[in-house]
Amino acid sequence: MPTPAPRYIAPSILSADFARLGEEVRDVIAAGADWIHFDVMDNHYVPNLTFGPMVCEALRKHAVKGDGTRVPIDVHLMVQPVDALATAFAKAGADLVSFHPEASAHVDRTLQLIRAEGCRAGLVFNPATPLDVLEWVIDKVDLVLIMSVNPGFGGQSFIPSALRKIEQARRLIDASGRDIRLEVDGGIKVDNIRAVADAGADTFVAGSAIFGQKDYRAVIAAMRERLAA
Ligand code: DX5
Ligand code: ZN
Repeated sequence: MPTPAPRYIAPSILSADFARLGEEVRDVIAAGADWIHFDVMDNHYVPNLTFGPMVCEALRKHAVKGDGTRVPIDVHLMVQPVDALATAFAKAGADLVSFHPEASAHVDRTLQLIRAEGCRAGLVFNPATPLDVLEWVIDKVDLVLIMSVNPGFGGQSFIPSALRKIEQARRLIDASGRDIRLEVDGGIKVDNIRAVADAGADTFVAGSAIFGQKDYRAVIAAMRERLAA
């Protein structure tokens, strides 16, 4: 049996206080965040509008631990078209850039473009989207992100069929033998994180569950406790 990958918690700053984003990023990292999840919405691919590469660039210097270690910025693009913004985010200091295959006319090309910029590349699957394309591009994928809500808003409820899709993605990733993160996004809370991990996920996005509480450290610690139990 291969050693299981370490579990990462990736707080989504979609639910942070936008008037104090730098401070929020520093605080949630001090509270134990492994990655910073950055939700980019364009009011076209999804019915909401958030932030662009300039905000990512401004936050880059805040995404470090106390000892100066760089904390990855995990950019989740909910935009169409994808390519120009993917490049802009790579140049703005993103470490991982993920996109929805429906939003790109040429998925293979977009993956190549992200990696050529020196970022890890991810594919995001909506609740009703099958994993089919993965079979053809898995050699160019560093992250598979399974949506457990329909993208566009924080604070929605976890859609249970995501668990089956996570299991399916886990099998494909293991069969590929490649080092690919399996991330889940939407409605993750202390109470369901363990079931999501048991299905095969290793990276957990949580927005409202963390930023909706006063004590970020307590929530992240409770999540890790459930994962370890
Ligand atoms: C939804 C975003 C998520 C969102 C998750 O479109 O991709 O990252 O912030 O928020 P919660 O954890 O509140 O469901
Ligand atoms: Zn997201």
